[in-house]
Amino acid sequence: MNKEFLWGAATSANQVEGGYNQDGRGLSMIDFAPGGKKRTRIISDPEFDYQIDSSAYKYPNHLGVDFYNNFKEDIKLMAKQGLKAYRMSISWSRIYPNGDDAKPNQAGINFYLQIFKLLKEYKIEPIVTICHFDLPYNLFKMYNGWNSQETIDFFVRYAQTLFENYQDYVKYWITFNEINVSMKVPLFTLGNAYGKSEHKEQEIFRAMHNQLLASSKVIKMGRTINPNFKFGSMSASTAAYSYDCNPVNQLEKILKMRMFLYFAADVQIRGYYPNYAKKYFEQNNIDLIINEEDKILLKNNVVDFHSFSYYQSVVVAKEFNQELVSGNMMSGIKNPFLTATSWNWQIDSTGLRICLNELYERYQIPLMIVENGIGEIDELINGKVEDDYRIEYLKSHIQTMQAAIYEDGVEVIGYTPWTFIDLVSASTGEMSKRYGFVYVDLDDYGNGTLRRIPKKSYYWYKNVIKSNGNEL
Ligand code: BG6
Repeated sequence: MNKEFLWGAATSANQVEGGYNQDGRGLSMIDFAPGGKKRTRIISDPEFDYQIDSSAYKYPNHLGVDFYNNFKEDIKLMAKQGLKAYRMSISWSRIYPNGDDAKPNQAGINFYLQIFKLLKEYKIEPIVTICHFDLPYNLFKMYNGWNSQETIDFFVRYAQTLFENYQDYVKYWITFNEINVSMKVPLFTLGNAYGKSEHKEQEIFRAMHNQLLASSKVIKMGRTINPNFKFGSMSASTAAYSYDCNPVNQLEKILKMRMFLYFAADVQIRGYYPNYAKKYFEQNNIDLIINEEDKILLKNNVVDFHSFSYYQSVVVAKEFNQELVSGNMMSGIKNPFLTATSWNWQIDSTGLRICLNELYERYQIPLMIVENGIGEIDELINGKVEDDYRIEYLKSHIQTMQAAIYEDGVEVIGYTPWTFIDLVSASTGEMSKRYGFVYVDLDDYGNGTLRRIPKKSYYWYKNVIKSNGNEL
């Protein structure tokens, strides 16, 4: 592999940090999401009331894995593993507790500054997501969140604060995490469940449009602060297969997947709304207000690289009654050629190669895999976690990534598996769905010592990095 290749690992602020009300941090919309298998259903319910009800629910994100108070030890573990990159996110309400504050929260700025200084000391390149499922509550309450122009301005100001304070430490910036999942779980990406909205789809696409504008504005402003910054788009990706060779199903795959898989990235990378999206809006009575100024902004401020998460593939048919499987914001028909995780996500390393090829052919810009991994139940036995299934999963995906690079000529600049350390699952709020190289002694009910224990996969990946991908 290229010597510069960014072998890393990933996390997000809301899933690891905890300290949700420490040192002036304000409430974030994700703080209202309870833990447990019903999480996505609860936050998507029209009756969801945006209240914290500790008598009825647990809120595991409030503690995360207490990275906020343990970050020095955790980063030391990253260094010992030999990570070259760490993909992380910043909690917006730690910097601007209410989103609209006159001044940023100095304690929040200092927290990330300490992190970046430490990473620099250990020669670990930060890859920073500015917004990973994280909208300050006050912006939702007072400004209608992403459905207002004001939120765009507050986001730009927040990003400017980050750029000015961290420009000597951070080069890679990702504006929004999985910007394309808004149609599935809008509370995550847009900080609003739109449960009672009459024209939900229109509101979601208007909010997404505002995020796309915000992303371009941030890129434009960021380049004036530091022309060496590299900006990335980020989408949840998958390989999609039609159920059979019936042309009707093949067409259905294309029709179904493009508004989900490609729409946002197409705008962020090419700089304009694709025709299929315009047609989709027409056919579904979605009225987006896009003026000339917006068009110029989008056109002139596209990203430098595209990043994505990849966990599984999906099977699509026009009409079906086959067995279904679940997944990462996408569910579909069971694929008989694949096995699945305990959460029923289909494991498909070949799909990653397909996905890399499709994205590279379409965009022709460098790609970064910023999430890939397996959520499983790990068992701590005699002080050890023998997670061979995780090693197997990552190994097969690294192999297909390498095939895409060496045999297909795809330009991949980094790989940051999900996750460095066990954290709170986004879709279920469970701790027991573990992804990390490092085990955290904490259960779904908040019990545990929070002790960190490197798993077998931690040492395996250490050697992968050391050998630059030659020893898998
Ligand atoms: C992605 C998110 O959707 O998938 C992460 O960017 C999330 O935040 C990851 O944790 C895995 O999903 P889950 O629901 O298993 O945590």
